[in-house]
Parts: sequence; structure tokens; C-alpha cells
Amino acid sequence: MKVLILGSGGREHALAHRLLKDDTCTSVTVVPGNPGMSKDGIAVADVSLEDFDILSEFIFKQSFDFVFVGPEDPLEKGIVNDLELKGIKVVGPTREAAQLESSKAFAKSFMSQFHIPTSKFKIYTSSDSAIAGLKEFVEGQVVVKVSSLAGGKGVVVAENHAQAQKAIEDFLNNSSCQIKTDKIILEERLYGQEISAFALYDENGFINLGYARDYKRVFDNDKGANTGGMGTFSSDSLVSKELENTINREVFQKVFDGMRELGTPFKGILFAGLMLNGRSINVIEFNVRLGDPETQSLLPRLKGDLTQTLFNQTHNKLNHSLSLDPKAAVHVVMCSKHYPSIDGTALDLGH
Ligand code: AMP
Ligand code: GLY
Repeated sequence: MKVLILGSGGREHALAHRLLKDDTCTSVTVVPGNPGMSKDGIAVADVSLEDFDILSEFIFKQSFDFVFVGPEDPLEKGIVNDLELKGIKVVGPTREAAQLESSKAFAKSFMSQFHIPTSKFKIYTSSDSAIAGLKEFVEGQVVVKVSSLAGGKGVVVAENHAQAQKAIEDFLNNSSCQIKTDKIILEERLYGQEISAFALYDENGFINLGYARDYKRVFDNDKGANTGGMGTFSSDSLVSKELENTINREVFQKVFDGMRELGTPFKGILFAGLMLNGRSINVIEFNVRLGDPETQSLLPRLKGDLTQTLFNQTHNKLNHSLSLDPKAAVHVVMCSKHYPSIDGTALDLGH
């Protein structure tokens, strides 16, 4: 089978690497890919993800058997709607179903409507109403979030109400703030251990793919600024069988049922960011794709023919043919000295 992966990060590199191990996979191309992939013998092609017509021409010319969408931006823009209309098989949700990630307001309201465990929240459309709403939350236990996609930069776990107020004003009123949103969510802070849980859905059901834990702070001992992820591990020890049953029943099954009921069935990969505390679970967020860097530690553990499973998924014939290697996997991120600086500071490669 010929597979096309869309994206350019470590996640897409790890997926390409993993699929190339399958007997059924004859070739993988990554668009646009990155130079590290080429060095690793993975084919890349410089095709833009912005123009779906040019992209689909490329797909027809190369006769790929299916396309896997890595990042969230093209999903939010409706790449799956577009390619499927042209008869191309794609792993990923439609624009409507991708709202589980692209609109946190949608995701929280969805969870509330379908009784999926999540923290108490309120949605606001103006800074005045959000600031007034702060008094309904205990000081030091409120999280301020933008509703729109923000690449991980739209969340402030506020130490006090003054910090929460500043975050609200920055997000909604400060024109130099890079993040744009029309809605703010205030929610109760959760405590416990975070975990990333993954499932693959087709129109008939889902399979649980497993778990990883992502470490977001830049320095050792969970110190420093939040990043896109400094490292991750995946191991059977993360979730017991009992907890897995709860996650499948209370989260993945309810998403399957709820999205069907709304007329926007979910298919593709669902990534639930969970807070575990003893036996209790709460959903912090949904993403509609694989995690980066979680994928780099989860995929090497997945045994079975993943290429065939993904192909089956695109034909709504998903089956339980994958299992997890009991061995644990660890992934460490190397970064430049100033990461996660985004202010144009020169990269110091001596780090
Ligand atoms: P999100 O983009 O919603 O996943 O939030 C990014 C990070 O902020 C999460 O991975 C958590 O570490 C933290 N966070 C978000 N919401 C909460 C919450 N309600 N309680 C505690 N931490 C949170
Ligand atoms: N590692 C978190 C994410 O992919 O959103």
C-alpha cells in the first residue's frame, strides 16, 4: 500500500518510520515533511497543505491508497471534507467533528451535554462578563482558556484572580497578543496525574490505541515554561485494566454516541487529555489527531499491521488487530537553548 502522511514534525516522522515496518506498506511519502526525514530515507514532497486542489491532484497522480492527516490546522480547515468529496480515503475527522479540538467552547458544551466527566466551567464572550464571572471560582483554582486553536499557548492556570484577570484582558482585548479568540472559558482547576489517551474511530466504533505521558515544562523536575513537549513515555503501568474500562465507557464511547446524535459522527484519531486522580477521571481537553511527542513513544509499542488497520478504518472495517508491546518506550526531545522562546532570539545550537 502507498501511504501519504500530511505534516512536518516528529509525530509524522515517527508514524512514517512505524508504517514502513509493516509488510503491507510499500511506500510512505510525507508532505511537506522535513530534512531529517529525508536523511532517514523517508520520501518527502514539497506540496503545500494550504491548497487542497493542488494537493488532491498530487494524490491522484501518485495513486496513494490513503492519506493520514497529522496536524490540527488542516483538519479545522476541512481538508477531510474536501478530499472525501473527491473520493480520496483519509484518516481524520471532518471540519464539523474537528470542533472537539478547534473550539474548546464546543468541546466543553459537548461534554456537559453527554455527561462526559470534565471540570466545572463557564463560557464568556466579553472580558467584562468573564472578569465578573471570576467570583464564582475559588481564587487560585481557576484556569483561563481561549476557545480557539492556540498551539498550546491559550491556557493560563492562574495562581490568583489578578493573574486570571490579566489573562482574560490579554486574550480578549490586547491587540499585540498573538492568540485570537471570541470566547473565553473559565474552568475549575483539576489536580492529579495527566495522561494522554488515544483511540481510532470509524463509523461503526472505535479501538483504544493506548496511552502516553507528555512532559511539558522545559527544565528538569517540572520547572520552567510550558513547551510543545520535552519528552514522553508510554508503558503498561500508566493505566490499569479497570481504569481503561472506565476511559472507554465514560469518554470514548460517549464521544462516539454523542457525535452521532449531533449528526457529526467522529472518525479518525481522538486524543483525550485526562486528569487521573485515584479512580476518578476528568477530560482536560480533546485533540482530533495523534499527539506530538506522545506518538514517538506510543507507536514503537504498537504491534500488528498498523497500515492495514488504518486502511480498514478508511473503509469502515476497523478491527481489533493491534496490541501493545509490554516493553516501555521513552522519547526525549533535543531543543535549542532558548526554546520555547518565540521572540526571534537566535537559536543557540551549543546547548
Ligand atoms: P489544554 O490545552 O486544555 O490541554 O491545557 C494545557 C495544559 O494546561 C494541560 O495539559 C494542563 O497541564 C493544564 N490545564 C488545562 N486545564 C486544566 C485544569 N482544568 N486543571 C489543571 N490543569 C489544567
Ligand atoms: N503533546 C500535546 C499535543 O500534541 O497537543
